[in-house]
Amino acid sequence: MASAPHDPVMVDRIVDLLAVTDDRPAVLVDCTLGAAGHAARLLAASGPNTHLVGFDRDPDALDLARRRLSAFADRVTLVHAPFDEFTEHVAPVVAQHGPLMGVLYDLGVSSMQLDTPGRGFSFRAFGPLDMRMDTTSPTTAAEFVNAASETELERILSEYGEESHARRIAQAIVANRPFTTTVGLADLIAQAMPRTQRRKDRAKGIHPATRSFQGLRIAVNSELERFGASLPQALELAAPAPGTSPRDGDVDGRGGRTANTSDRGGRIATLAYHSLEDRIAKRFFSDAADGCICPPGLPVCGCGRVPLLSHVSRKGERPSEEEVAANPRARSATLRVVERLSGDETPDDDQLGTR
Ligand SMILES: C[S@@+](CC[C@H](N)C(=O)[O-])C[C@H]1O[C@@H](n2cnc3c(N)ncnc32)[C@H](O)[C@@H]1O
Repeated sequence: MASAPHDPVMVDRIVDLLAVTDDRPAVLVDCTLGAAGHAARLLAASGPNTHLVGFDRDPDALDLARRRLSAFADRVTLVHAPFDEFTEHVAPVVAQHGPLMGVLYDLGVSSMQLDTPGRGFSFRAFGPLDMRMDTTSPTTAAEFVNAASETELERILSEYGEESHARRIAQAIVANRPFTTTVGLADLIAQAMPRTQRRKDRAKGIHPATRSFQGLRIAVNSELERFGASLPQALELAAPAPGTSPRDGDVDGRGGRTANTSDRGGRIATLAYHSLEDRIAKRFFSDAADGCICPPGLPVCGCGRVPLLSHVSRKGERPSEEEVAANPRARSATLRVVERLSGDETPDDDQLGTR
């Protein structure tokens, strides 16, 4: 494989946790294929009967992934679709190729997307104000910024960008639009910011438009909604453990259970790069791991809720210092991994949130 256009984050750990190490038929899903760094390692480490479904909304990423996975072509199904169309694309593959043993979400944008000025994700490089992961989708960041109301802009910058000067920036955008380029918008955002904030950002080595660009990118791509909608579908399709799984075990001594797939349920791993994404995973996993939510003291359970998964490692895991030194984009990553419990616990749609 040629030199990596995107370094896969925490890849050894993810392979340890998700690879299917025996020869039985199984399915893995990489919801965020990108340059296929994780996918290639998972396929290489898994048995010959493991089939991988790879999603990406970005047609360029999918082309690159197809080339980089050519050695595994007969074990791969590539899907150009957002990963909230999980069930539609994965269920037929599971019916044909075997139980769903692992799902990976490596969220956010890839280095290829960030480093290509023409994609319009970066405030550091001059380019069209685009930010669409899927270049065939209708609304660019420029169209969004030039049409949204001031209130909507303020909400997006504040909620998705966690920008405390959202109101000032939204006012400045509305007073100075239209915007067509990344740098044009980034300069305006920097000017709209109080000088003290600019100084704080400079001391941290970040551009004052960092938070606003994150907010816009999340809005343009509906990132949080899609993630929240995909997780319940993945859990519903994940293979139930053959018997009753141990809860929150630590069999491999590193906070994760054995990688031997014969005695476990399907796993879901999420790599999040900011707290908004991570919170969605954390809450969903925590709710699904909870059993009965009846008030204490009730003689019989009235809620009917059952634990659907267990945490493979209790806390979010972080990359090592060595990895962050070698790949600074790994710096903010948090990995969470859960495992589907046995089929005795039958989820209903209401509990999964798919209804
Ligand atoms: C961080 S990169 C993944 C990198 C990959 N793990 C690798 O090793 O090269 C995220 C990728 O997921 C894609 N993506 C993000 N959100 C998506 C969604 N909702 N549906 C499908 N693909 C998505 C992006 O287009 C991008 O290519």
